[in-house]
Amino acid sequence: MTDLFDIEHDSFGYDEPTLDKLFETLKQEVRSSSANYSQEVFRLHWLGRKQGRLKTLREGWSKSAPPEALKPLGIRFNQLKQQIEAALAGAAATPVASAAKSCLDFSLPGSVRAMGIQHPLLKTMQEIVSVFHDLGYSTALGPQVESDFYNFEALNFPPNHPARDTQDTLVLADQQAKPSRERLLMRTHTSPVQIRSMIAQAPPVRIVVPGKVHRNDAADATHSPVFHQVEGLCVDANITFSDLKGTLDHAMKALFGSAVKTRFFPSFFPFTEPSADVQISCIFCAGNGCRKCKNSGWIELLGCGMVDPAVFASVTEARRKINQADDAYNPEKISGFAFGMGVERIAMIQHGISEIGHFYSGDMRFLEQFA
Ligand code: PHE
Repeated sequence: MTDLFDIEHDSFGYDEPTLDKLFETLKQEVRSSSANYSQEVFRLHWLGRKQGRLKTLREGWSKSAPPEALKPLGIRFNQLKQQIEAALAGAAATPVASAAKSCLDFSLPGSVRAMGIQHPLLKTMQEIVSVFHDLGYSTALGPQVESDFYNFEALNFPPNHPARDTQDTLVLADQQAKPSRERLLMRTHTSPVQIRSMIAQAPPVRIVVPGKVHRNDAADATHSPVFHQVEGLCVDANITFSDLKGTLDHAMKALFGSAVKTRFFPSFFPFTEPSADVQISCIFCAGNGCRKCKNSGWIELLGCGMVDPAVFASVTEARRKINQADDAYNPEKISGFAFGMGVERIAMIQHGISEIGHFYSGDMRFLEQFA
């Protein structure tokens, strides 16, 4: 078939035999396109007001044609137009047949691809993080494959201390030949990023650490071997337990509503002293007692405490090793608090979800509710 692109752009003769040949080619093209295109695509292709083939050919050719060829050219274009309109009328008269003809119907509406949404867990994690961003904290991140040093030793978990067992650590294979502090494991909490951040910078430190953590826990309605935490650390001169209380009380009100109350219970973590568990008044029964809070009126939500001086000592020693021999983390001069919360737990309370597994199932019926 003649390449009509060439016809449009190259000069050619306007004698009758040449025009016969060209218009025969165009007529063939009308026939085959009316057979292959849907009626609407066919109409737009040939008669479209801006880019229609008939218009662009007619304009292009008329421009380059000698004056005496304009009339015969006009007649031929009119004939071609009649043929196109006849093909269109024929298609309209037999709509079923025309639909069957076309294997690709470009006039059908496209299939709509749903816009993605943020996963409910990430959304909650982002919400928590932004509450602390508003207080001047910045985000710090750390690796999920962590060394024993950052995950345990520097956080004041002595070797063979039973507190390590409570974290159900997943360790990497073939680490036995290494000194204990260099052995790799999956981090059991986001607290190692406290150590990494303090080694890297002198106070003041205000960081939040969102991230994935791993524990050798059997999955059940509220546990998953992989879950998410948001850690917080604030170190500066004169940081007190009151600052910790005020900060977390504000954060809980920002997350769960201003009516929520907080209370602090004595607890234990090797890296904080004193340590506390934070409870919020039950958001389901406003503290009156219901099934969700086991009739206590309170829901336990996170762990926290004042940074243990032993942690500052590990940081100081590690800084000395990288030639940061300074007094920056002298517990006589600075103090700090830390906290850590489970993102799944908070998201489950926010949305009244009773099965942690929903977050990981990828079930659209669950996820679509957060769109
Ligand atoms: N890392 C602790 C845990 O995973 C939580 C925590 C963080 C407690 C910071 C105190 C201070 O259980």
